[in-house]
Amino acid sequence: MSRVQREFVLWVGIAVAALLLFAGILRFQYRNTQNRFAIAVTPQPARGDAVFRAKGCAKCHGENAAGGQLGPALRERAASLPQLVTAMWNHAPRMYEAMNQAKLPYPTLSYDETGQLVAYLYLTGYSDEPGDARRGQELFRTKQCARCHTSDGNPGGAPGVQQLAAADSPITWTQALWNHGSAMESGMRREGIAWPRFQANELRDLYAYVRQASGRSGSETPVPAADPDRGWQVFQAKYCINCHSLRKPPGVAEVTSPPQRPQGPVLGTDGKLPPTFSQFGAAMLNHFPDMHRAMRSVGQTPPRFESQEILDLAVFLYGLHYLEPSGSPQVGASIFAWRGCADCHGARAEGTARGPALRGRGQPYTAVRLATNLWGHGTKMYERSRKAGRTWPVLQESDVGDLLSFLNTPIESRR
Ligand code: HEC
Ligand code: HEC
Ligand code: HEC
Ligand code: HEC
Repeated sequence: MSRVQREFVLWVGIAVAALLLFAGILRFQYRNTQNRFAIAVTPQPARGDAVFRAKGCAKCHGENAAGGQLGPALRERAASLPQLVTAMWNHAPRMYEAMNQAKLPYPTLSYDETGQLVAYLYLTGYSDEPGDARRGQELFRTKQCARCHTSDGNPGGAPGVQQLAAADSPITWTQALWNHGSAMESGMRREGIAWPRFQANELRDLYAYVRQASGRSGSETPVPAADPDRGWQVFQAKYCINCHSLRKPPGVAEVTSPPQRPQGPVLGTDGKLPPTFSQFGAAMLNHFPDMHRAMRSVGQTPPRFESQEILDLAVFLYGLHYLEPSGSPQVGASIFAWRGCADCHGARAEGTARGPALRGRGQPYTAVRLATNLWGHGTKMYERSRKAGRTWPVLQESDVGDLLSFLNTPIESRR
């Protein structure tokens, strides 16, 4: 090769490398804008719970947001970040009035507190309402549990029904069932009983029954105070990752896999998770026998769960679905006008005498930032809109992504 040829090849090589790098960056950026995790604050349910109590929310909504006389339970309501932001916003005026009447101080929330509170409400939305013990008793019979777990002597070594509820929620109960699963499964095979499949709220109701049978009061369950980092470790260490991916591989419509390793559904952002934690537990128990068979066939020991690992797993997986909403700045601008925000803040959110500028301040809005700022300025806004005889602007869940995207776009110069 001549020098010129060598140089030519070198330049082509550099150009190709640059193009590949550029394509890689684009692809990375594209992925990033598709799914932005709401990592503004790392959810710590225990801290969220503390904020929930300290700010007086628990006075109306009850301990663990399980419901009280003055406010509803905030459970089993498949929450998302935008849904929670709108719920808090739409609910604000009624809350101010209720708090005024009760002479309670209006709670102020810092950015971090709002973040923890919203993350806590997110997990609360997946926590179970108390189960129906009567239905549970019926299920205990029809699922054949009563054949081994009687109330008196148990020849087969199965603990009595009074001893089954050493757990404080249906999902931690799942862990007890799971860990005893091998012994139970072989017992069942001997007795000719098929492994039970749980549907909808069956596990929750069964738990309510065994809880009642053991003489423990109430089946109100705490919001899981678990550790998502630990959950990710568990997901890898307990082989979940062998069968479940967290994302759909790009460009692959159908995942095909060797028969000895049945591919489970995608559990991350591209997939769906069961609507409550007890149903998550039920889904895990439902595939217990298949999982054991599949793992034994490749020489792996089926996993057991220690301490609260199953909770950590659940909080990790549900945490993956805790996403910043995306949206369109154009649609956001229209919504800003439709909802009456523009009347005070200006059509381009550039600020007027009636309301401050919201754009072009070099501070990006996240859903949590929007919720914090709205909350902080809410009383003043409420007073002004009441004096002006306006109704409180009600937001829709789908507005949040568009509004954020509008507010985060720099102010365009006047045409
Ligand atoms: C004075 C009693 C009271 C207090 C204090 C209170 N709430 Fe509420 N909350 C209610 C009532 C009543 C509802 C039912 C819906 C409504 O009236 O807006 C509700 C509804 C809600 C909803 C659901 C709204 C929906 O559309 O589903 C959320 C979320 C919520 N509250 C969060 C909170 C948070 C967070 C706090 C603490 C900062 C709090 N609440 C404090 C009484 C209260
Ligand atoms: C074939 C008999 C058999 C059947 C049917 C059966 N179990 Fe069990 N179960 C056992 C045995 C034996 C153990 C103890 C296993 C061990 O010690 O490892 C056990 C353990 C348990 C435990 C763990 C208790 C603890 O230590 O916390 C729970 C919970 C449980 N069973 C619930 C159920 C439920 C709910 C059903 C019905 C869906 C059911 N079992 C059906 C035999 C059975
Ligand atoms: C041997 C492969 C395999 C392993 C290992 C495995 N799963 Fe699964 N999983 C499946 C299959 C297949 C399904 C769907 C069919 C079914 O429900 O039995 C499933 C379903 C699920 C579902 C229900 C999803 C839905 O939308 O209803 C959840 C949740 C789940 N698995 C969690 C886990 C967790 C957590 C682990 C690790 C402890 C795990 N799985 C390990 C194969 C596996
Ligand atoms: C009646 C007039 C009025 C309307 C309508 C109104 N606002 Fe406001 N807004 C205000 C005023 C006044 C403030 C500043 C309050 C303060 O300083 O405490 C404010 C503050 C805010 C803030 C906090 C400022 C910041 O630093 O981030 C946000 C966010 C906001 N408004 C968004 C909205 C949105 C979204 C709408 C429509 C759903 C809306 N506003 C409708 C008057 C209004």
